[in-house]
Amino acid sequence: MTEQPERILVAVAWPYANGPRHIGHVAGFGVPSDVFARYHRLRGNDVLMVSGTDEHGTPIMVAADREGVTPQELVDRNNAVIREDLRRLGLSYDLFTRTTTANHHRVVRDVFRTLYDRGYLVERTTLGAFSAATGQTLPDRYIEGTCPICGFAEARGDQCDNCGNQLDPQDLIEPRSKVDGEPPVFRETSHLFLDLPVFRDRLRTWIQDQRHWRPNVRRFSLQLLDGLRARPVTRDLDWGVRVPVPGYEEREDKRIYVWMDAVVGYLSASVEWAVNRSEPDAWRRWWQSPGARHYYFMGKDNIVFHSVIWPSQLIGYGTGGDLGDGKALELPYDIVSSEFLTMEGKQFSTSRNVVIHVGDFLDRYSADSLRYYLTAAGPETQDSDFTWAEFVRRNNDELVATWGNLVHRTLQSVHRSFGAVPEPSKLLDVDEAVIADVEAGFATVGAEIERARFRSALGEVMALAARVNRYLSTEAPWALIETDRERAATVLYVAVRCVDSLKVLFTPFLPHSSQALHELLGHEGWIAGPLEFREITDADGYLHTVLTGDYASWIGRWEPSSLEPGRPLAKPVPLFAKLDPETVVASELERMRGAAA
Ligand code: MF3
Ligand code: ZN
Repeated sequence: MTEQPERILVAVAWPYANGPRHIGHVAGFGVPSDVFARYHRLRGNDVLMVSGTDEHGTPIMVAADREGVTPQELVDRNNAVIREDLRRLGLSYDLFTRTTTANHHRVVRDVFRTLYDRGYLVERTTLGAFSAATGQTLPDRYIEGTCPICGFAEARGDQCDNCGNQLDPQDLIEPRSKVDGEPPVFRETSHLFLDLPVFRDRLRTWIQDQRHWRPNVRRFSLQLLDGLRARPVTRDLDWGVRVPVPGYEEREDKRIYVWMDAVVGYLSASVEWAVNRSEPDAWRRWWQSPGARHYYFMGKDNIVFHSVIWPSQLIGYGTGGDLGDGKALELPYDIVSSEFLTMEGKQFSTSRNVVIHVGDFLDRYSADSLRYYLTAAGPETQDSDFTWAEFVRRNNDELVATWGNLVHRTLQSVHRSFGAVPEPSKLLDVDEAVIADVEAGFATVGAEIERARFRSALGEVMALAARVNRYLSTEAPWALIETDRERAATVLYVAVRCVDSLKVLFTPFLPHSSQALHELLGHEGWIAGPLEFREITDADGYLHTVLTGDYASWIGRWEPSSLEPGRPLAKPVPLFAKLDPETVVASELERMRGAAA
């Protein structure tokens, strides 16, 4: 490809460090973002993919209390678990860091302070709900009580799930804290509010122009603007980023609201990435460079924070602050949000054990089987249900039967009869046609990935694998070995060359098996890997471990194979394991019941 490389920021939602993540989480933010990033790197574009664990806020404090540890201990432990799971799943972050780093705190405070200086943060007094036991803020959704409108006994402080009405916690009859069951205490408290209405017109013009967003995201975001109100962006807590504003800074019990802090992570992680590679200004190539494109990946419950709150912070920050250095920061280019995944017909719920954690899944099944399932049958454009039976069926009837089988029978025949990539004689029309079809996939599959249509992109690659399978069945080279060895060599050469191209087309989706195939085909080096952990001590002496990798050294290219005849081939081994439906379904359902009991 001869075009200029594009600069692409892949901004992946930050998983909460309040516990291990389940497969619904990685269906939303994880696998889609990685498919996208790997594709663009193979295309030769300049990709920066950043994220980290989201370690502040009430969910962390609640989990720490429940487990009898400090918030710091809790997030240290969960950061280690989550980053290990994401590594095993093959999510190729340039930097996966944390929100508790000194760097992150500094960048968040710079953004917050600048918004304050420019008058976008205003102080207001509100009636806040506090835990009677700890004195900490109780967020609306942690308060339960009887709905004053319909009488439903388990309405939440933010809304009633029975009648659908929006509520304030003070409206609830007999309110109680979901954390300890005690009634909350209501008292006056001062907070800084982000003055969102001042951004409304800018946001509307901008969102209206984003015609490439998924229609539901654009429509939903425009609707949010109609009801836009100032939102409190500080909290009465002692865990989080300190508020860099006079009268707040010195207070032990005031912190920045976790969402205001977390979204800044995209920027702070880009800065950390640059500092870690000793090019402290390198992040500006993505953030202060018109033409760089920023893609954000998340589940649908995160949309408002990415299409309204974070853009308001970016607009409000303007060209100011310590970091900005007189230049504006890029707004999101696309907000790629997924719908929800359910599990055997139910909502994921850790407490009711309707859950399968990523690490447990990967202990028993391969990362590529999970990536395949989540791309082919995940919640890309509508809610979808994970069932073990469907997981096994997709693995066996699609991944193994189509792609695994094509690879295996091709390599097996070649290995047995030739031991190396055979020398073709003249290609016939049928040979040219199958090669052309596969090679056309680079354009069509690439276009689908660029539009964030991952299911359809993967479907096209699978259709091409099926196409090559039909070619092989028709030409039946194994039957020709004795009678027409020259023709058998040609057909097998064509098949191996198609397999070598398909390997690249599958790489964004199935990086581990594509690497294994790459080695079976006698190539060296990494098509697209590996990932690694690195220990970082930042300027403030803060030690942490990040997930990263040297992706500039990938040898994979998004282009057709130019496999040379004569290259020796290794003895083939199957790329994917077939799963026994009865055993898997029975044992997994048993496991869920056992753990729930
Ligand atoms: N922690 C949030 C969640 O799991 C996502 C935060 S995305 C962020 O829903 F970038 F804003 F941090
Ligand atoms: Zn109600």
